[in-house]
Amino acid sequence: MKTQKNTSRSRKKAIPQPRLLVLHGPNLNLLGGREPQHYGEVTLADINLALARRAEIAGVDLESFQSNHEGALIERIHAARAQEVRYIIINPAAWTHTSVAVRDALAATGIPFIEVHLSNVHARETFRQHSFFSDIAIGVISGLGHQGYLLALEYLLNKLNTD
Ligand code: DQA
Repeated sequence: MKTQKNTSRSRKKAIPQPRLLVLHGPNLNLLGGREPQHYGEVTLADINLALARRAEIAGVDLESFQSNHEGALIERIHAARAQEVRYIIINPAAWTHTSVAVRDALAATGIPFIEVHLSNVHARETFRQHSFFSDIAIGVISGLGHQGYLLALEYLLNKLNTD
């Protein structure tokens, strides 16, 4: 006869880990070799790995997604709502300065987000000095290189603890 163990351990429900999503816009897949004077020499894979390691230590579920296709990024933002993503870290890259559609996707989901740029966009060409995201972001980190992503994550980890 089959017996079923019913220990207090097996009855405990696993508490779902809070979810965070990191989004990278166009051309950021080329990081490491792309205009290193602006974007540094760290690859996107290394940035994502550092974020994943930090999130794992904190017990947070973090996923990173990069696309060169605006529609794909928008679909990913829509999916984030169903997945109950708590916060987003986004470097919209060139779409920062052009995309009402990506802005609207973030606004539609209502998921709070931090805008990150590797370079200091305010110290560059005039067309980079306008962002379609900054006024609806929790905050903006610009010019701190790859560390900007980790600083954004650190802020959100702290926020998750106090939410
Ligand atoms: C960027 C700045 C944008 O102006 C540019 O188009 C990028 C990267 C940054 O991280 O500094 O692709 O978002």
